[in-house]
Amino acid sequence: MEKEKPRGPLYYADYIQLDRLLGCQQMQSALHGRPAHDEMLFIIVHQTYELWFKQILWELDAVLATFRGSRVPEEDVGEAVLHCGRIVEIQRVLIQQVDVLETMTPLDFLDFRDDLIPASGIQSVQFRLIENKLGMRRGDRLQLHAAPYTSRLSDEDAARVEAAEKEPSLFDLIEGWLERTPFLNFGDFDFWREYRRAVDAMLAADRASILSNPTLTEEEKATQLAGVEATARRFADVFEPGAGQPVAGPGRHFSRRALQAALLINLYRDEPILHLPFRLLALLADIERNFTTWRQRHAQMAMRMIGSRIGTGGTSGHEYLDRAAERHKVFADLSALSSFFIPRSALPKLPPDVRSRMGFKFQTPR
Ligand code: HEM
Repeated sequence: MEKEKPRGPLYYADYIQLDRLLGCQQMQSALHGRPAHDEMLFIIVHQTYELWFKQILWELDAVLATFRGSRVPEEDVGEAVLHCGRIVEIQRVLIQQVDVLETMTPLDFLDFRDDLIPASGIQSVQFRLIENKLGMRRGDRLQLHAAPYTSRLSDEDAARVEAAEKEPSLFDLIEGWLERTPFLNFGDFDFWREYRRAVDAMLAADRASILSNPTLTEEEKATQLAGVEATARRFADVFEPGAGQPVAGPGRHFSRRALQAALLINLYRDEPILHLPFRLLALLADIERNFTTWRQRHAQMAMRMIGSRIGTGGTSGHEYLDRAAERHKVFADLSALSSFFIPRSALPKLPPDVRSRMGFKFQTPR
């Protein structure tokens, strides 16, 4: 067998392939013989985004692998929490990074903008992979002149993006995991009946406080009471199978059973066994919010840079991005869950045997 060649000590620049990394900023304006100073910033910011997208996908794939099994071991939920926490921190950097690009003025952008046509961020494959792996569905996307959303991609890239659409997404896997939560049925203790009683008592107290408020006019009372009735209807939608969709709004929605489990996890998050699931759901809601914040921030930046012009990728530009920020949502239900929270003091108390099943097993020896 051939002996392995002795290698010198690992060198920093070789390890991170620095020459390749720093050698791939090709300014279109320079190719056209009129280099525009700010195009370097434009390229480097985009490249940085794509590197962070790669890291997000790396974390997301690990989380998907955890939830793909029919049983998700407790310790793996802890790992998933760490991965999702990292995604959230990366997103914060991505949102802040817009400030760096905005040091470029619209006039400076115009120096090279036309050289970019028809290239556009709309062709970012990694961005689409993140969306699809999270659970964005084709039917929920904005239509691009009746063309599929992959129409601006090369055939090879479109195939990668479409393949990711066919895999179970994080939304699907989390929904299945929530539906399998064993704590939805507590044996003899009917949690949902008790919870409903607590909700009814809370709503009755709300009605009474409006009716007895001497500072309100009759008209104001009627408006506020109508608000309480709308809340009551929303709660009824969570409890009753066959009722309306509990959470309205754009994007995907969990099945009623998954939503009930998510609600239970949030309400009883202080029980040790529910704490990690609670943190995971909170992080998924953060990921969703951060994506929306980035989309809004990006839309504002586009407005500042190009006003009401169309984008280099041929969409309506700012208007398209604004609508996408409003509509392209996956885990919006998790943020909306707080509509169904009741104060801890009003929560039905869990019977001791249920609590002990949810607790840590370790007992300090006496
Ligand atoms: C001067 C700065 C920028 C402007 C004016 C701008 C403008 C636009 C516009 C108008 C679109 C809509 C598609 C089109 O018609 O081209 C778009 C899409 C997009 N851009 Fe940017 N962009 C800028 C910077 C960035 C950066 C730094 C990123 C980071 C990767 C980025 C990522 C994206 C993505 C992912 C989309 C697709 C969004 C979607 O379909 O929901 N853009 N951009």
